[in-house]
Amino acid sequence: MKSRSSAPGKVILFGEHFVVYGSKAILCAINRRTVVSAQTTQDRIISIKSDVGSLSSDIETELVEIPTELRPLFYLAKKITQTHSHEGVTINVESEIPPGIGLGSSSACCVAGASAISALFEKPDRDKILKLAIEAEKTIHQNSSGADCTVCLHGGMMTYSKREGFERLGSVPGFKLVVANSNLEHSTGKMVSGVKMFQEENKAEFLEMCNMQDGLTERALDMIEKNDLVGLGACIEKNQKILEAIGVSNEKLRIMINMVNKTSFGSKITGAGGGGCTFALCDDTNVQATKHRLNQENIECFSAEIDLKGLDTF
Ligand code: PMV
Repeated sequence: MKSRSSAPGKVILFGEHFVVYGSKAILCAINRRTVVSAQTTQDRIISIKSDVGSLSSDIETELVEIPTELRPLFYLAKKITQTHSHEGVTINVESEIPPGIGLGSSSACCVAGASAISALFEKPDRDKILKLAIEAEKTIHQNSSGADCTVCLHGGMMTYSKREGFERLGSVPGFKLVVANSNLEHSTGKMVSGVKMFQEENKAEFLEMCNMQDGLTERALDMIEKNDLVGLGACIEKNQKILEAIGVSNEKLRIMINMVNKTSFGSKITGAGGGGCTFALCDDTNVQATKHRLNQENIECFSAEIDLKGLDTF
């Protein structure tokens, strides 16, 4: 038995970091995919082949003995096959999403993996796939909110807050994003801890920033509904200023953002900051000029559109 599923990566458009303190974030799936193929075998071995590593290990192997980056898929294979006492699984991952830079590569892999491996044994149900994918992601990011896996599974744009959960946005504007890679390594955990320290030392100021972020996110939602890219770009620039104020930007990210201030509608960090990626809001009229500007300065970048499909099984 064989099966294949794919899921898109994502960017956080608004509200990263503040989402940890209860604010609303806006996320968007992008048209860069991870494809997971799975096949049953007649032994109790789980084999995984992917860009981030490979292994072949007995199904009874404890998760702690598995290299971190392969744990989510191993967890999924072990959990899904536990009621099928004679079979193992061979998994192959092909991804267009660069790993480790906040574009949702691990979430896309968890969603596509949960779907492909489940499909070997039953007709997959989306709620069950999401639950499995979030559990799998938690084997590497214990405090994951589940927002990334949710947007990778459903596609499109959505809001997420701790209080209100997820809501898919009905109207999706016709924009393009130019995603640029700083090639600076960052740790989401360290950036989140740094913001926590800032919050503890500047409680009143931070509360004011949370309120500013909330107002801005509501304004951005209004601009999205009106398909007003100029207005949305202005919101993106304001969000970047707030992220600067909490200390998650740096010289290289600032330079990358300033590079495209004349060619795009607006640019900011996406995700934890400290490294990783920025994105610039564009449409057909300025996407090439924005890419060209970044390429001139040897900044790795690609253009992306909203992925409306989410999980695909074939
Ligand atoms: O860089 P990413 O995609 O892992 O995003 C982290 C987003 C934060 O808001 C900084 C943390 C979180 O758990 O929401």
